[in-house]
Amino acid sequence: MYRIESKVDTKAAEFIQHQKEFKEILKEFREKQSSVINGSSPRAVEKHKKRGKLLARERINLLIDPNTPFLELSTMAAYDRYDNQFPSAGIITGIGVVQGKETLIIANDATVKGGTYVKETIKKHVRAQEIAMENHLPCVYMVDSGGVFLPEQSNVFPDRFDFGRFFYNQARMSAAGIPQIAIVMGSCTAGGAYVPAMSDETIIVKDQGTIFIGGPPLVKAATGEEVSAEELGGADVHTSISGVADHYANDDRHALQICRNIFQTLELKPKQQLQLSEIEEPFYDPEELYGIAPIDLKQAVDAREIIARIVDGSRFQEFKARYAPTVITGFANIMGYPVGIIASNGVLFSETSLKGAHFVELCSKRNIPILFLQNITGFIVGKEYERKGIARDGAKFVHAVANANVPKITVVFGGSFGAGNYAMAGRAYDPRLLFMWPNAKISVMGGEQAAGVLIQVKQDQLAARGKTMAKEDIEKLRKDILEKYEYEGSAYYSTSRLWDDGIIDPMDTRKAVAMGIAMSLNKPFDETKYGIFRM
Ligand code: COA
Repeated sequence: MYRIESKVDTKAAEFIQHQKEFKEILKEFREKQSSVINGSSPRAVEKHKKRGKLLARERINLLIDPNTPFLELSTMAAYDRYDNQFPSAGIITGIGVVQGKETLIIANDATVKGGTYVKETIKKHVRAQEIAMENHLPCVYMVDSGGVFLPEQSNVFPDRFDFGRFFYNQARMSAAGIPQIAIVMGSCTAGGAYVPAMSDETIIVKDQGTIFIGGPPLVKAATGEEVSAEELGGADVHTSISGVADHYANDDRHALQICRNIFQTLELKPKQQLQLSEIEEPFYDPEELYGIAPIDLKQAVDAREIIARIVDGSRFQEFKARYAPTVITGFANIMGYPVGIIASNGVLFSETSLKGAHFVELCSKRNIPILFLQNITGFIVGKEYERKGIARDGAKFVHAVANANVPKITVVFGGSFGAGNYAMAGRAYDPRLLFMWPNAKISVMGGEQAAGVLIQVKQDQLAARGKTMAKEDIEKLRKDILEKYEYEGSAYYSTSRLWDDGIIDPMDTRKAVAMGIAMSLNKPFDETKYGIFRM
């Protein structure tokens, strides 16, 4: 493959200024993320440690193989909500390697309101199970939770993807042959009791772990029986009398070692084979992304400059380089894995959509995962384009992306607006993972366009009644909409609501994508079948 020839002058004042501005964005991201990681109240952390328990992230570090990375997902879930009382939504999820196997880990953080669940906690737990299902990853649940956060019960209990979905998913995952191991390291109350009860094997920690359908206060209220938590559902009871748990652990470390031992007994399943190549660092330094990543989304960025700093050796086998230049398509390798890249390079036209759809077909036929690099303002509008059938051609791209059964991974490196979000494998298109860079923005359209549309609609309404809109009312409406879109369009707003799997530093893109492809190989790719493409 040929190396991309970068046209960026890293010595130019413009580049240096851009880099400086981006580093400010990155600084803000790191500060916010660190405030989340250290967000539990010191009192809760102290109480937790005094009980001889490890913190959720410490537990994960001891479970995974030494010197292997943990790809933490949605660290900033629930950010800026509930008065920031639910850092990381009180649950840590991510992908790590246990005994050489990519594993999905779900760990309650008991220092956050007793590990209880609000809406984002549920979304994060269900999302993690979906990743395990799609990629056939074994799943470890580290349970330490008081169940539903009771004041929020109506937002977490009854709906299709609420609390009950955990156990439905566990049953379906089990039937699909996905191993699930529970480590009960704290409370496991009410519905939560089904997590260990539905797992293949369950470990429970002495003096810490409890499993019961109704805790002591509920039992007393219901039947008058007085019983301690330990007598009702402690480690001794469940490993020697009820049989609800299988392994008795003396402490957290012992429990984690037992879990690692269990992993040695898991079946090795056939993986999807890919033609791997030797890993090569990009020729152009990934740190240069800070000088290139879009800050002002009105300024065009040549997507090849981004690709050159993500892929092995900065090598790229471009497809249709001379045709439909507002989307860049081509093959490359990322940490040795082959990947087809579809990168936004401007507005989507009819021919851009056809090029995109054609390239998706190539990747599907060749069983090559696709990386979507989004910086998309949407599809082109206007009389000329509608007459040429932009809707029909855009639909072909959407069809191709929706039905492609090779793994899709999406990284939003700039804007993600309008139907461009769909065609470029937005959340609704089931990419295996979706990440945002901290500078990224996402909304149905840009704030200025939305303000323009709403002002026009209002003016038309008034005109029909023979009235006009005062200039100051127009300006007020514009200002309100711009502020709203600015706030709701930020990567932080998105990640707080789990519209993505996390915000990443651009320099970590290679690692995150490689981890995504590695995990996706655990389930051989299904054959791709397409429906009707309107011609
Ligand atoms: N709903 C709302 N808040 C809850 C809660 C619940 N189910 N369980 C715990 N909390 C809150 C506590 O009010 C406390 O809040 P604060 O930090 O603002 O004071 C915080 O979580 C920690 O609880 P605390 O009891 O001090 O911690 P602990 O480690 O000693 O005990 C539990 C944790 C989960 C074992 C215990 O709180 C408990 O039994 N909770 C009730 C569990 C239950 O019955 N759940 C049924 C839901 S389906």
